[in-house]
Amino acid sequence: MIRTSAQYHQQTSYKRHEMAGHFLDWENQPTVSKTYPGVKPVRLPGEMQFPHTTLCNLLKKDRARNRTPLSLGIEDISRILMLTCRLTARARHANGEFYYRTAASAGALYPTEIYVAPQGVNGIEDGLYHFSIAHHGLSLLRKGNLFPWIVKAVQPMSTKTPLLTFFFSAIFFRSAWKYRDRSYRYHLLDTGHVLENLTLAFKAMSLPYTSSYDFDDYEVNRLLGLDDFKEVSLALCQIPGNSPLQGQTDEGIDEIPDHMKSASRVAHKEIDYPSIREIHTAGVRKTSPSEPASRMVHKLGVSPDTWTKIDAPPTWPETTGYAETVFGRRSRRNFVLEPISQACLFALLDALCITESESNSTSLNPYQSISTGFLISRSEGFEPGFYLLDSYSESYGIIFRESIIEKMAHVCLDQAWLANAAIHFVFMTNPHTLDRVWGARGYRYAMMTAGMMGERLYLVAEAMGLGCCGIGAFYDFEAAEILNLNTESRLLYLVSVGVVKGLKRQKSEVGGQRSEVRLKKGFH
Ligand SMILES: Cc1cc2nc3c(=O)[nH]c(=O)nc-3n(C[C@H](O)[C@H](O)[C@H](O)COP(=O)(O)O)c2cc1C
Repeated sequence: MIRTSAQYHQQTSYKRHEMAGHFLDWENQPTVSKTYPGVKPVRLPGEMQFPHTTLCNLLKKDRARNRTPLSLGIEDISRILMLTCRLTARARHANGEFYYRTAASAGALYPTEIYVAPQGVNGIEDGLYHFSIAHHGLSLLRKGNLFPWIVKAVQPMSTKTPLLTFFFSAIFFRSAWKYRDRSYRYHLLDTGHVLENLTLAFKAMSLPYTSSYDFDDYEVNRLLGLDDFKEVSLALCQIPGNSPLQGQTDEGIDEIPDHMKSASRVAHKEIDYPSIREIHTAGVRKTSPSEPASRMVHKLGVSPDTWTKIDAPPTWPETTGYAETVFGRRSRRNFVLEPISQACLFALLDALCITESESNSTSLNPYQSISTGFLISRSEGFEPGFYLLDSYSESYGIIFRESIIEKMAHVCLDQAWLANAAIHFVFMTNPHTLDRVWGARGYRYAMMTAGMMGERLYLVAEAMGLGCCGIGAFYDFEAAEILNLNTESRLLYLVSVGVVKGLKRQKSEVGGQRSEVRLKKGFH
């Protein structure tokens, strides 16, 4: 029985000579879009303008003073959702078409689902809706004032009604079909990727927001009508409102009818992987810390002799504006053996640094649950080696001087193309510290935060004309070993970045000054 992050991570580690063969059951491939029997999603408005800004502007400007908007309309919901999770590319296969999305996802299996609860938003009834990515539409699940239940499950002391709440869930079997027990890692990383897109959309629209991985899981799952054996809530984001909370509740919300709950099923023969449910359930209980919170950078057993401040340019060398970048982002693996410029590297490091409002959000800050490093093989002005980033003091330091990018490609299940990347970013944690400080729920913090940072890297790289690809598959012990981590610590996620063939790298219309971002015909 799995009770801790350390146990789950250990049990789902890949070992080079102990990989059990696994054949994908194509007849039983999960659907990637959730549908409710008898409910047709209502299309959200399509044609619209997107904010003209750059990622540098979004990620470096502190948004702490953004004001609660006087009103929001259905177009705002549509815009936010397009920037968060939209179909952006189509591939044709022998058995039909397949659509890729704004956010990266391990194996393009898309376990993450989104639900929205608006209150007083123009053009849409108050209630709870499921977001259908395939239709860019909303399916009404519950009507009326749900806020007494939302507030009770999320922040019981609050007296105000949030204007908009976005819930994120993951459907276990979507990723488990391919990755089996290991897939809880991908449920969390993938959800982090989508969450980062949502928070960037809020920043771009100057909306204040709060995000949380902490709430009453059972109440939120019940509110969303999830079959929580198959699908569970993982995170939520809210735009605060000013109106006082109306109505009260001492009881749980009504169960959603069984036929609606059955929408959490995504394949005929779903295989249950108990360790996924066990680690998730272990995180439901709140535990008191047996160790005070401290930043993960001090818990890995590696430390540089000196720290150097990042010398980031005031504006990053972006070639496309924010919205265009979000819609154009792809995983790119065709790296060429060219160095990346120092300005690009500093911009990538700058993007991973924490703004003041992020660092102050809570005492047990999710950003503290991981530590970031980077392996350099080819970058102007940097010696090859393994470096650690201190994202709070915006500085970096070298751990050892040797390019291990080729070795790392070998550790990443011999994905040889990874050896051609200029940089590997590595997101690491000490799972035992997670357990001692945060309890098993800490695993969610660490993995979703790593996913958010991964999406950030993808976007900033894309905006600067560089290629990027996330890597969740590696031999875990070998990875920790070549990084020289202490015996407790592990690599969680690797993101490769470098120069790729065929991507525009000239500075063009910086600042996203293009008037409108249009997708090809066929995309909503
Ligand atoms: C958590 C995560 C792990 C991934 N692991 C790998 C990997 O090991 N190898 C790989 O080639 N791509 C990997 N990818 C990239 C996905 O295959 C890619 O995101 C997906 O096919 C969708 O394509 P897109 O990113 O171009 O939209 C990963 C992506 C994520 C988010």
